[in-house]
Amino acid sequence: MLTVEELTKTAPAAGTGSEKEQTVQRMFSSIARYYDLNNSLLSLGLHHYWKRRAIEYLLVGDPPHPRPLGEPVAPRGTHCSLDAMGHSTGHGEMETSRILPGERGSLRGSPGARGSVKLVLDVGAGTADLALLAARRLGEKARIVAADLNRPMLAIGVEKVRKATLQNRIACVQANAEHLSAPDATFDAVTTGFCLRNVGNLAQALHEVWRVLKPGGRLICLEFSRPVSSWLSRLYDWYSFTLLPWIGTRVSGDTTGVYQYLPASIRSFPDQDGLARVLREIGFKKVDYHNLSGGIVAIHVAVK
Ligand SMILES: C[S@@+](CC[C@H](N)C(=O)[O-])C[C@H]1O[C@@H](n2cnc3c(N)ncnc32)[C@H](O)[C@@H]1O
Repeated sequence: MLTVEELTKTAPAAGTGSEKEQTVQRMFSSIARYYDLNNSLLSLGLHHYWKRRAIEYLLVGDPPHPRPLGEPVAPRGTHCSLDAMGHSTGHGEMETSRILPGERGSLRGSPGARGSVKLVLDVGAGTADLALLAARRLGEKARIVAADLNRPMLAIGVEKVRKATLQNRIACVQANAEHLSAPDATFDAVTTGFCLRNVGNLAQALHEVWRVLKPGGRLICLEFSRPVSSWLSRLYDWYSFTLLPWIGTRVSGDTTGVYQYLPASIRSFPDQDGLARVLREIGFKKVDYHNLSGGIVAIHVAVK
């Protein structure tokens, strides 16, 4: 039987930089229609719980946030004139019935929004699960920008946002995590779920997240990590290198190797402490992480 290291080496290599970006995007385009179904099947529904737990960290009070995110900070009756997409309809409305390109200015919160609305960016939003949870959890004054490079994934997200009638609070934008067009210090918080493993240049993406966060703003990163106990680790290795690719590939009819790439990408991504170190190197303070499901996933919380 092959070892995890050998299995990792034989998985489709995504490379680095733009080569990785193209390979990964091809994979997500191939499975977009089956992404939600496979997520639920392959995680036995746990991804809903992981995402809910991550979103809770938007609400936890911390010294840099005198009020928990989501509480209105402006006097009652103040309109939010957020034009996150440069498509303001006046009073906090956002046009999201289609995918908006992440052009310069399109990820901008208008000056009027400052102090009157909580603005959250979800990086690698995919089919918009985290954005939907954030919008519901933070309440109607919050605005969420769901950004992803992949149109087919975002198209599913747009449809889910429309069905939830949250178009006025969530804008879906096609944007690259490594080159966000938002001005510096735009967002109160950035969330990201299972995306950072997939970017071509992790440091570049994290520098961008740091740049677009307001001082005191927080990054909440939900990502696969390393099980803490050896028996869980062995079980998880067996599952993710054998059963997971088998089920995932059959359900989606994928031919790009995405479900072989998935476990390999997890093993080559920094573990809990490694990612915390990278975040500190980027300049984040108060970096902390919380293991879920025995460390299969971890939520890193970091403050700018
Ligand atoms: C595993 S999916 C996660 C989707 C969603 N956040 C979730 O939790 O279900 C990873 C997403 O990251 C996106 N992604 C990968 N590289 C990206 C980049 N450089 N910029 C923006 N999105 C990226 C992919 O297109 C894909 O939709």
